Amino acid sequence: MPAILASAPGKAILFGEHAVVYGRPAIAVPVTQVQVKTSITADPLGPTGRVHIQAPGIQLESDLAKLPVDDPIALAVQGVMRVLAVDHLPALNLRINSTIPVAAGLGSGAAVSVAILRALSAFLGHPLPDEIVSALAFEVEKKHHGTPSGIDNTVVTYARPIFFTRGQPFEILPPAETITLIIADSGIKSPTRLAVAAVRETWQADPHRLDALFDAIAQVTQQARRLITEGPVLALGPLMIENHHFLQQVGVSSAELDFLVDAALQAGAAGAKLSGGGWGGNMIALATAENAEKISTALASAGAKRVIISRVNPFTRDQK
Ligand code: MEV
Repeated sequence: MPAILASAPGKAILFGEHAVVYGRPAIAVPVTQVQVKTSITADPLGPTGRVHIQAPGIQLESDLAKLPVDDPIALAVQGVMRVLAVDHLPALNLRINSTIPVAAGLGSGAAVSVAILRALSAFLGHPLPDEIVSALAFEVEKKHHGTPSGIDNTVVTYARPIFFTRGQPFEILPPAETITLIIADSGIKSPTRLAVAAVRETWQADPHRLDALFDAIAQVTQQARRLITEGPVLALGPLMIENHHFLQQVGVSSAELDFLVDAALQAGAAGAKLSGGGWGGNMIALATAENAEKISTALASAGAKRVIISRVNPFTRDQK
């Protein structure tokens, strides 16, 4: 039997991170330049149920049975077994290769889950539909992130720009024009779960102030939604800057992220902001086809550890 392959992209939040955990809308796009790829091969000589995992990116080589029960890889495997009512797996090798940096706001956790769910369900002969893949990845996220909104698993599963409000059907947003994003990594690892927990403490201490900030972010996100589908997309720039200022007030920016945001704006970006959980990880800048290289070089000179130029291209609703 040939290897069964699956993949899932990274993601960037364009607007509304953190506010989305509190019921406000957010917009996210897939980042296909970074990916998780999974491959499953049968191990004809192995004992039934032996799942051997190799994930060189996180220095993991182990049998599934030896992982902690709440390990995200184990949870994803169990999720597939549960929905497909499979009691025992045949012996198999699961290899996970990822180019998505961990704890950097690019959706690495959700992408690992989605790529495992897809590969394993296909290996078992019943590839799961996107809806179930996203729901199962959300279950894994909940065990690891405390109170995730569900935006990461949704954008990573559907690999389309989305307008997302927790607990409501999401909407795919076809961009009117190409959105050129420069995504720059501050190099500082910052697990989303910690930033989300800190925001919760701040919100509990001062709900009025935080709710007002989340409402302001929601307004920006609503304006952005229209600009994405109707254009001009460069008008998203000032909204990104506003969103970044609100996130600074929420308390999730950092000196390094602010420095990169300023460097991008000085190099001519139409807008820039942190993206994802914050404190570290990545920031994004809005560029044109003409100034993308210049902004990318400026961000590298300003200390970014990795810079990606990512384009979200127009498509029609029929191509959904
Ligand atoms: C993480 O990509 C976005 C956050 O809003 C958390 C979440 O929505 O689950 C910070």
